[in-house]
Formats: sequence, C-alpha cells, structure tokens
Amino acid sequence: MSQDKVQIFDTTLRDGEQSPGASMNTEEKLEIARQLVRLGVDVIEAGFPISSPGDFESVRRIGTEVGDACVVCGLTRAIPADIESAADALKTAARPRIHTGIGVSESHLVDKLRISKETALERAVAAVKLSRTFVEDVEFYAEDAGRAEPEFLYRMIEAVVAAGATVVNIPDTTGYAYPELFGDLIGGLFNGVRGIENVIVSVHCHNDLGMATANALAGVNAGARQIECTINGIGERAGNTAMEEVVMALRQRPDVFGVDTTINTREITRASRMVSNITGIGVQPNKAIVGANAFAHSSGIHQDGILKERSTYEIIDPVEVGVGGSSIVLTARSGRHALRHRLEVLGFSLAADEFESIYADYLVIADKKKEVYDEDLEVLVGERERTLHDVYHLEKVQVTTGEPGIPTATVELVTRDGVHMIDSSHGTGPVDAVYKAINRMIDVENDLSEFSVNAVTRGIDALGEVTIRVTAGDGHIFTGRGAHSDIIVASAKAYINALNRLLVSQETAGTDVTDGV
Ligand code: KIV
Ligand code: ZN
Repeated sequence: MSQDKVQIFDTTLRDGEQSPGASMNTEEKLEIARQLVRLGVDVIEAGFPISSPGDFESVRRIGTEVGDACVVCGLTRAIPADIESAADALKTAARPRIHTGIGVSESHLVDKLRISKETALERAVAAVKLSRTFVEDVEFYAEDAGRAEPEFLYRMIEAVVAAGATVVNIPDTTGYAYPELFGDLIGGLFNGVRGIENVIVSVHCHNDLGMATANALAGVNAGARQIECTINGIGERAGNTAMEEVVMALRQRPDVFGVDTTINTREITRASRMVSNITGIGVQPNKAIVGANAFAHSSGIHQDGILKERSTYEIIDPVEVGVGGSSIVLTARSGRHALRHRLEVLGFSLAADEFESIYADYLVIADKKKEVYDEDLEVLVGERERTLHDVYHLEKVQVTTGEPGIPTATVELVTRDGVHMIDSSHGTGPVDAVYKAINRMIDVENDLSEFSVNAVTRGIDALGEVTIRVTAGDGHIFTGRGAHSDIIVASAKAYINALNRLLVSQETAGTDVTDGV
C-alpha cells in the first residue's frame, strides 16, 4: 500500500449499529454495503457474527456479494468460539478479515475481564494465531487503548504483530483521548515496537468529548494509515469518527496531512441520507459536510459574498460531496442581492423600481416568517402584478370574532387618488363582516359566487391564498386573489382584487367609479 494512502474502514454496520435504536436487518445492511462499495471504502466491518444469527447472516451475505470490491471483516472477542464463528461467516468472502482483540487498559483488565496483564497478552496472541489459521488478514484491536499505559499497549502490539496480525487497531474506546496526546500514543508505536513497519496502524475513535475526528486525524499525522469510522458518525454512545469528516479533511488540507483516501466523495450525501433513513437516526442540521445547513447561507453579507464568488464563504464545493449546490436561505437578514438572484432563478426580471417595491413587501413577510420560500416570492410578485391598476387599495383590516360574540370588522381603503375611507360592519363570520364593511364603501352591485382558501407555502406560518369569484350586475364574472399569512386579510385582499377588476372593466366601458368618494 502506498504510504500516501489512508484506508477507510467503515464500521457503520457494526459499531454504527450499536447506536441505540439503529438496528438494521440483513437486507438493509446489504443496501448500505452496496453504497459503501460505491463510495470506495477499503474495508466493510459487516458485523459481529457470534452475537446473533442475524449478524452472522449479514457478514456472510455481504462477504459473498461484494466480491473483491473491498475487504469484508467480522468482529470477535479473543475467544475461540467467536473466531470460529467469524471464520465460518467469512468462508465465501473473496477478501475476508477477522478483527479480534482484548482490553488493554487497567480498567478493562481489572474491572471487566478480571485477568492479569500476562493472561491478556497470552489470550491476545492465541486469538491472532487462531485467526491466522482461517484467514491471512487479521486485525487486532487493543480495547480502551486511549486509557491504557503506553508501555503495556506497546508490549501487546509487539506480541500480536509477532503472532501474525496484519493490522493493529488502537481504539480510543471511551472517547477519552485528546488530539495531541493521541498523536503521541500513535507516534510511540513507531519508536521501538518491533515489526510495526510491516503492519498497518489503524485508529478507531469515539466521540464522547466531541474529538473523534480530531483524534483520528492526529493519529494519521503520527503515522496511522487506516481510519475506522461510520457514516454520519453514528455509533455507541456519542458515536464514532464520522467518515465524511475525515475524508473531506484529508481531501481539503493536503498541506496539513499530505495523505488522502480513495473515497468517491460525490457519493457521501447519498450514503448519509441512506443511513439516516434506514436507521431512523436524523442528522443534526449543522452537522459538518452532511447537515442540511452545511452549504446554506442565511446572512445577507454571506449571501452577497457567495453570489459573487462561492469560495468567499465555502471551503468545500458542495458538488464534491454530492449536493446539488449551495443554497441561499431567504430570511429577514437577506439583502437585495440574494432576493434579486432568487427572483431571477424563478424567471422574474423586474425593473429597478418594481424590484424595490417587491423588496419592501418581502421584508414585511420575512419579518413574520423564519424563512421565505419560492412559493412566497411567486405570490408576492403575482400580487404586485394584480394590484398595479387598482382603483382601491386595502390599507387596514381589523376583526373581532369569537363564540359567543358578534363578528365585527373595520376596514380602511385608499383610492388611487390617495383618499382614505374607513367603515365597519358586523356579519355571520369575520369574512362576511369584512365583505360587508367593504360593500359599505364600494357600492357596486355584485354577488359572491365562489370562495376558496389554500395554503401555498409550508409550515404553521404558511401563506394562505384566497380565490373568489363575484358576478357583476350585468352577469360578468370576475376572479379575485389575495395572499397573506392571515386568511382574513387574504380574504379582504381577494375581494378588493375582484372588485378592482370589475370596476376597471366598467371604467374602460366609460363610468367614473370613484365619483363622489
Ligand atoms: O471502540 C472499540 O474499542 C471497538 C472495538 C471493538 C474495536 O469498537
Ligand atoms: Zn468502537
């Protein structure tokens, strides 16, 4: 293996599955294994064969199906029955690996295994030797190495290398390590452990202190050439090193690491979504690389920068990890540049004064909502076009309603000449009260024949769009639309819109409809 290559050992199907609630059936594991092959991982740890018939079957089927695309590995303790079971499950694998090991820290030796250091050494060596009778590729893990006495860890590693281990795994089982110290622990292996130059040193870090990625990378800088990791960082307790993080760190910073993996990074997002869907474990929105917000820009300053040149606020091109592109989230903090860009993407090219007026309306909506969606913008622009030739403009609407209570509305209108009018009415409901108040000011014969409300955007703060039809005295039908996050206001706008159309049509037929106002 090239000294510049770091192998990716994926343990989503074994350590990842140890996440509470993440258990997967064999078909689901096979689906993920196929995606791991597309990603180009070097090793798939497919399960712990002795732990259950399901795990045995998953290791067997994955080993058979992936062929020589990558190494397939089964976990064991340093117990002969475990090793025999793993060997059995891997019988049909083209490139089988047995992963065996034993605790090495004081805590594991004294409190868990209740054995002496010498016994642990003997069992470690025996496990590797037995594994080698079945397969040529044997990985040894020194459990809880992150809390072990370095001298004893090195003794054990030297013994298992001499016994035939091909890969030695230094796990920080409890997520206790700190990057500098973990780097020193790995570096120490290369300072006197006999035979270490003939094996691959692997790092397996847990995230209890949020340092799994940093520790694994410190291990690589100290000479490790295999990283054990999971998609989305799922795993026991706080999880494992996240594959997408270490892969992208190595890819982005050749100046720091000078080594790389052969992962096809464009498959990362697909893998992340698949694992999240199958396990039911969601990805936090701000998760590095694969979180929903990882390439989303919300502040106006950042949006302006991104639209001018993506690299101003992104160190990774989202296309490189399989995301369509950066996203601009329209919020109250977005500026004109972002809004204009989004409107252009939606196909609206507006003159400068039209744009300014849309921008003012946009800010009103954005202040009320957390996020402004494309549908909101379509409604906004549509509304603007509708109100361009208005005879009356709705200025204010206020209702009181309830049960018991008399629905009452007060409405203020402004004519296109700037005259303000206010009137009130009560009705059978709030919309009826609003319409009656409007009728008191716009005295034009009409009959409301249709009324419907639709939510046009998402969420509790969605915009409601009201569509109505009114029939004029001469039998002509006019449609009116209005959108607002308050459906009473949307209803008032829709009615005014229909009446405006009716009045404009009468106007063009020659009557001055605002006469006497
Ligand atoms: O965290 C750990 O020590 C492990 C070993 C079984 C490799 O998962
Ligand atoms: Zn682990």
